[in-house]
Amino acid sequence: MPHASVSAVSRDEALRLAREFATARHADTPPCHDFSHVERVLALAERLAAEEGADLFVVRMAALLHDIGRGLEPRVGPDPDRHEELSVELARPFLEAIGLEPALTERVLRAVLEHRHRRGREPSSPEAACLYDADKLDSLGAVGVARAYLWLGEHGRSVHYPPESWAGVDPSNNATEHDSLQREWEIKLSGLKDRLYTASGRAIAAERHERMRRFLDELELEARGEA
Ligand SMILES: [Fe+2]
Ligand SMILES: [Fe+2]
Repeated sequence: MPHASVSAVSRDEALRLAREFATARHADTPPCHDFSHVERVLALAERLAAEEGADLFVVRMAALLHDIGRGLEPRVGPDPDRHEELSVELARPFLEAIGLEPALTERVLRAVLEHRHRRGREPSSPEAACLYDADKLDSLGAVGVARAYLWLGEHGRSVHYPPESWAGVDPSNNATEHDSLQREWEIKLSGLKDRLYTASGRAIAAERHERMRRFLDELELEARGEA
C-alpha cells in the first residue's frame, strides 16, 4: 500500500492502485466472492452509471473497493456479516494514502457502505444506486446460478432440495444446513428484480430473473427424471 501524504493522484492512477489493492484483498476470498465478482460488478456498474448519468469515477472506485472487507469474519453468529463496514474501514486509509481528494473519498466510501441494506441503510446517491444494483445483479441469471453452486459446494450442499426441506425455517435463518438454490430463489432471489434502484438495473434484472427461473424449472423436471 502506498505511503501517506502523497500529493494529489490522477484518477487513472487512483483506479490502477485500487485495482491492485482490491486484487490483493481478494486473494483468499471464496470463489463466489473472488475478484471476478468485482470485475463483473465493475462492468455492470459502469454500464448503469452511463445510463443513469452517475459519476463514472466514483462508481468505478466504489465497485473496485466494495467487498475488500469480505472474508474478515464468519457468516453466522450474532453479528454475522458487516463486510460493507469493514470495506470502508480498509478503503478510507487507502484512499487517503494515495491522495484522493477528501470530497471524492467521502462519496466513494458512502457508496461502498450503502451497497448493502443493513441498519436501515439505502443507496443515497446515483453512484451508490448503480453499485447496489450491479452487485445484486451478479446474484441473478446464469452467473447467479453459477455463483450459488460455488457457495453450496463449498458448504457441502447438493443440487436439488424440495420445499419441504426448508418448510418452517425462518427466512432470516442463514445456517448453511438449510441452504439451497431452490430456497434462496423462494425467499430472496425471485423478488430481487423489484428491489433495485435504477431503471436500467431493473431492465437487466427482468431478463436475468427470467433466465434463472427457466433454469430452476428445467432443473425441477430433470431432478424428477421427467426431462
Ligand atoms: Fe458486498
Ligand atoms: Fe459484492
